[in-house]
Amino acid sequence: MPFNFAQIFQDDLITSMVRKTAYGLATTCVLGAAAYAGYCVAAPEKHQLRHYRHPELNDQIEKVLDSLKITDDQLEQIMHLLEEEMNAGLSPLTHHQAIVKMFPTYVRNIPNGTEIGQVLALDLGGTNFRVLLIDLRGNSRIELTSKIFLIPQSVMIGDGKRLFRHLAECLHEFMQKERILNTGVCYPIGFTFSFPCQQEGLASARLTAWTKGFDCSGVVNEDVVKLLQDAIDEKRINAKCVALINDTVGTLMACAYKDPSTAIGLILGTGTNACYIENLDKVGTWKGDYNEPKQVIINMEWGAFGDNGRLNLIRTKYDEEVDLSSMNPGKQIFEKMISGMYMGEIVRLIILDLLQQELLFLGHRDTYGDYKTPLYNRGGFYTKFVSTVEIDEGIQFSNTRRVLEDIGIRNPTYDDCAIVRHICRQVSKRAAKLAAAGLAVLINRIGRSNITVGVDGSLYRYHPRFKHNMERCMETLINKSIQFKLTLSDDGSGKGAAMVACLADDSLCKKSVVHNETTRD
Ligand code: GLC
Repeated sequence: MPFNFAQIFQDDLITSMVRKTAYGLATTCVLGAAAYAGYCVAAPEKHQLRHYRHPELNDQIEKVLDSLKITDDQLEQIMHLLEEEMNAGLSPLTHHQAIVKMFPTYVRNIPNGTEIGQVLALDLGGTNFRVLLIDLRGNSRIELTSKIFLIPQSVMIGDGKRLFRHLAECLHEFMQKERILNTGVCYPIGFTFSFPCQQEGLASARLTAWTKGFDCSGVVNEDVVKLLQDAIDEKRINAKCVALINDTVGTLMACAYKDPSTAIGLILGTGTNACYIENLDKVGTWKGDYNEPKQVIINMEWGAFGDNGRLNLIRTKYDEEVDLSSMNPGKQIFEKMISGMYMGEIVRLIILDLLQQELLFLGHRDTYGDYKTPLYNRGGFYTKFVSTVEIDEGIQFSNTRRVLEDIGIRNPTYDDCAIVRHICRQVSKRAAKLAAAGLAVLINRIGRSNITVGVDGSLYRYHPRFKHNMERCMETLINKSIQFKLTLSDDGSGKGAAMVACLADDSLCKKSVVHNETTRD
């Protein structure tokens, strides 16, 4: 083909024009995005275009959501009330009637990373049950294998014996798979049982009440370690439960393994609760010895804060409804305002309220009548939706749209999405503030200059702003001389239980590793 200069020239010219235009567009986009980002950072509240374009509807919506707002004065008041309840729980004179139980856990030593041993851990606290085989290798090294088993709803609310038999069957299956069944070694078990228990020792714990949707008969007031061990022995499994811990304690332990300034464990998941290291002289209910270290981890069971009406000043009609339709009305009031088991439901009730007041989903009258959609059904708005919705930052609302379609709102408008995101933000921010107030009480009380809080739980892990919202609020409530840090704890319910089991009977763990021919009874 002959050279065609004109063609080449033309092609070059076109290519260069296209290129220039593309560069121009790209530059505009980059500058535009940078300007938008700068604007968002400078004016975080204003850019959130969260309101209807109708000012009078905005005002009415704000009025509904006002009930969720907690002022700084109220937060201070809540902190003061919580501290009173804590002291009541710790005093032998008032412990019996106390709402916040402040159970001494008998865990007094904090791991230092040098622990060695091969231990089993069981973790029960929600709809899943986990079995783990954990190798503590010293030098802060841990190896583990684990398996998750489902707890069917029928077992969660059935006969207690059946629950523990189910746990033993899962353990049997796991040990068989790991080839550690009938090996001649009796494996120590650390049992993370995330429900309120009155302990009389590390391996003796009476359940005081079920929480989080469990209600098995014949377990309340019984020794949970014994129930588990009976089921294990019935199946002739070579394992012995040497310690029972709460998930908050596991979280504290797993975090302390890496960071010695850890003094608090916090769970923000299906339920919420905290534990912390307390001086023995403040624990009037302590029945153990006073040897060194003169401290013990206290499982607060702070979820019950407010069960005597002391949080009524901030409860909304949505909180009351969530409570009334729960399995344990009147119980776990603080937990019901914060944790993952209830947050989605609070949002759903607010959405329904706004819809009934004709403030939301205008133009969706055709879908109002479909009572089969999740929107109209208890539990229909999952807490994970709150996180998904809040991941939407700008005005596209791609996540929010998907969530709304999932719950039965077809073709939601921009306004619908903006309002729903606003509701989610208000509900999760309130929860973060309440948890922050609780932590602030503990941090100010412990009073060390440097405190790390080990945190775990799905709400904290997956919500895009929970940590940030908590930290912002904590900064205003904690004494300025104290430095604090929130650290995500890595699988405390598993590893923490293994550490406590190991510390509980150090010789036992070593024996199972070193002399793995010996059988214990
Ligand atoms: C509930 C339980 C408590 C647990 C918390 C987090 O509040 O009563 O023991 O720590 O949930 O799982």
